[in-house]
Amino acid sequence: MSPKISASKRARGATKLRYAISGAENEKRQAIIDACRGMNALGINQGTSGNISVRHGEGMLITPTSVPYDWMTPEQIVFMAMDGSFAEGQRPSSEWRFHLDILRARPEIHAVVHAHPTYATILAIMGLDIPPVHYMIAAAGGDNIRCAPYATFGTPELSEYAVKALEGRFACLLDHHGMIAIGPSLDRALWLAVEVETLARQYHGCLQIGKPPLLDSDEIERVRQKMVGYGHTDRNSDQ
Ligand code: 13P
Repeated sequence: MSPKISASKRARGATKLRYAISGAENEKRQAIIDACRGMNALGINQGTSGNISVRHGEGMLITPTSVPYDWMTPEQIVFMAMDGSFAEGQRPSSEWRFHLDILRARPEIHAVVHAHPTYATILAIMGLDIPPVHYMIAAAGGDNIRCAPYATFGTPELSEYAVKALEGRFACLLDHHGMIAIGPSLDRALWLAVEVETLARQYHGCLQIGKPPLLDSDEIERVRQKMVGYGHTDRNSDQ
């Protein structure tokens, strides 16, 4: 587990992460990089957009800001304590606030995936929630996927809106920005991110034809309960 970097150590000007990364932690860091590359390969993200975090000890491991995923190394992944502190010289994602606030607010959540998928973002630009056009919406926890209001990236406002839009849900859209998917594991959150983009694409397609008929809330609840223990299996329960 990563040690917390104390304020006094930071004040003394530590410029590098000065602890040995264990094999298990290194694997977790590499899994984050693999998931980032996966986001782009799966077509739900592009370039250096997006970021990923995974709960780790008394904090989280989060991607560095603005590093192309093909160049990213395990050492560049940042350990951030739950109070937001991190080793000087490290460069956490500009979106570290909402990652930290989601993990603080939701003890059952272990991974946060943020991406800019095209169709989810088109709906978000239009300020649309995704309604129950397909039963798979139940995988996101309820009968809609909410769109959080716009706020500038990296701000406490954006974090506040995201945490609220995620209440009782595992995914939300971000107005004029993108999408967040969360889960008990990194595999699960990445899987859900792809499902959300698929739902967004389906809803977008329906809107080209007209106003789509919707499934009712009772049916979505029935599906949600039926989905418990069904479907996606994780490679590792704690990643
Ligand atoms: P970072 O490179 O700082 O993680 O920012 C990417 C992004 O998508 C901001 O919303």
